[in-house]
Amino acid sequence: MAKVILDVDTGVDDAVAIILALNSPELEVMGITTVAGNVNVERATENTLKIVEFMGRNTPVFPGMGRPLWGELREDRESHGESGLGDAILPSPKLKPEACHAMDFVLQSIDVWGKELTIVATGPLTNLAMTILKEPQVALKVGRIISMGGYFGLTPYGRGNVLPFSEFNVFTDPLAADIVYHSGIEVIATGLDVTMNPRAQVDGQTYEEIGKMKTRNALLFTSLLGRLLVKEGAISLHDPLALSYAISSSILKTKRCTVEVELQGELTRGQTVVLEEDTERGINVAFDVDGEQFLSLIHERVLWR
Ligand code: RIB
Ligand code: CA
Repeated sequence: MAKVILDVDTGVDDAVAIILALNSPELEVMGITTVAGNVNVERATENTLKIVEFMGRNTPVFPGMGRPLWGELREDRESHGESGLGDAILPSPKLKPEACHAMDFVLQSIDVWGKELTIVATGPLTNLAMTILKEPQVALKVGRIISMGGYFGLTPYGRGNVLPFSEFNVFTDPLAADIVYHSGIEVIATGLDVTMNPRAQVDGQTYEEIGKMKTRNALLFTSLLGRLLVKEGAISLHDPLALSYAISSSILKTKRCTVEVELQGELTRGQTVVLEEDTERGINVAFDVDGEQFLSLIHERVLWR
């Protein structure tokens, strides 16, 4: 089993990623850290507790950073709704967040599990950047970071979903992404290049079929993601796709690239610029996806429960 920490800004697709992780025997979820992104960190924490409780688990949840290192937080109510869970109505959680800050939990976990530990980050990278700034040597100790974020221009799919070339998580905290990408940690960056590949998306017809399944999780799935279908015409499961790489690395093909992040351009904040492809340096950037393998994982591990 791979030991993982999920770092989330629970929103609708983070919620599906959490369900997928908790239903995957290949993963041991050691804890979940929350960060401001789709919604503020308090809401992200409450939403995460709601999903953990919905799953009948008691995975510890550690609140993290409440604002980006650089710039203001711009929540995405259009995609995620006022609550951050779309149109899903879940009871207020009985579970309580941990008193330990996300950063301290990550540092303690790296000390204990070191290279065994994978961190799957599906929100802005603020918590992980702060962890690296606090103790830079963690970069030599932790296993890897699988990040949902960026738009790298490596495929005909995808485009910026905030600015023409900027993806939301990196747009929200570009400096954090820059720190993580240049930390020396093994990073697998799963960007819009693959999450918006039609082979990995849920289209309207599939969404209707899921709506007829009537399983507990299928009902939650459709209430979480219906807005995204209306907004974008198909559902990109950004965060679950990033997470799926921790379950089976054959789902994504990656190539090493040197990447720079635009920190403050009026129209280019958060743009992830690939300087060199197929290099020995840099980070691993996803450029292809086995959509069939990914979607069958969603059906098997999320919907049919
Ligand atoms: O751009 C998509 C990413 O931004 C996803 O992680 C989504 O949850 C939002 O955080
Ligand atoms: Ca997210």
